[in-house]
Amino acid sequence: MSAGITGVGKYVPERILTNQDLEKIVDTNDEWIRTRTGIEERRIADDDVDTADMAYQASKQAIENAEIKPEEIDLILVATVTPDKSFPTVSCMLQERLGATKAAAMDISAACAGFMYGVITAKQFIDTGVYKHVLVVGAEKLSKITDWKDRNTCVLFGDGAGAAVIGKVSGDRGIKSFELGADGAGGKYLQQKDNYIQMNGREVFKFAVRQMPESSLNVVKQAGLSKEDVDYLVPHQANIRIMEAARNKLDIPVDKMATSVKKYGNTSSASIPIALAEAVESGDVKDDDFVVLVGFGGGLTWGAVGLKWGK
Ligand code: UT7
Repeated sequence: MSAGITGVGKYVPERILTNQDLEKIVDTNDEWIRTRTGIEERRIADDDVDTADMAYQASKQAIENAEIKPEEIDLILVATVTPDKSFPTVSCMLQERLGATKAAAMDISAACAGFMYGVITAKQFIDTGVYKHVLVVGAEKLSKITDWKDRNTCVLFGDGAGAAVIGKVSGDRGIKSFELGADGAGGKYLQQKDNYIQMNGREVFKFAVRQMPESSLNVVKQAGLSKEDVDYLVPHQANIRIMEAARNKLDIPVDKMATSVKKYGNTSSASIPIALAEAVESGDVKDDDFVVLVGFGGGLTWGAVGLKWGK
């Protein structure tokens, strides 16, 4: 029995910001945003809703879905670049609100690849037998670090949270392979500066269209499989053109890739768990499917997992 995902959950705020709404704020247009990014709308949290609130909603669902009690959780890892405060961490706030009294808790900072860092860290604790249930969350309120005057970035991001419980799964299911990486030299291309996200879009794009396909293929090979064996792809939801590069590399049909970027934009560390939760809920991901999760982000960072779905 190896480590796998035993439950998933998601939360997105109700408030929708459409491309047409953005046309009134900055010099942009729906056509440009849709064709260059695939984004049609994104969700924005109210002023009184913070990262921990969204993390809590997604986590509650994931814990229910995993059919465990909060008291059974051994460790909480929250990936976020938009914590409510630098301390106490979002994971500690979550621990209290969930009543996960036994759990250790820490935040992980690896930008949009944060959820992948979390899942892979959780896997180590499960495989060694030290812990039974680890809650991994990706939660972001990016709207609070978005420069609403900068059309290069403000059209891209949204708020939300996704969560997964990692534990032992049955038979030959579970995480078969993983890859993690970082390239600090590229940090300058995507950073928080003067409180806002600043990005050299073209450089990040070049990195992402190289890294996402490469990491996806690497975890397939490492699992002893070939690309024909991939049933579903959940890439970081940043830009449909980048996601397509990964899909083409694996040679899989359009309907075998999660594309929630359309509805939610780029929610950084939350994008993969939100997309995964929706794919599970819709039945796109089924028991025994071989699923690839792959992300990249500021740092620069990246991470990928190949897993056979199911408890
Ligand atoms: O989680 C990781 C986060 N980051 C990413 O994934 C971002 C990766 N990069 C990208 O997705 C793309 O580079 C962008 C979507 C950000 C930009 O697309 P692009 O095809 O690389 O466009 P560009 O930056 O080359 O800009 C093309 C033109 C420019 O005008 P000029 O200089 O050619 O006259 C921009 O000023 O589009 C202009 N432009 C816009 N026009 C309308 C940039 N932003 C906008 C906008 N609306 N929002």
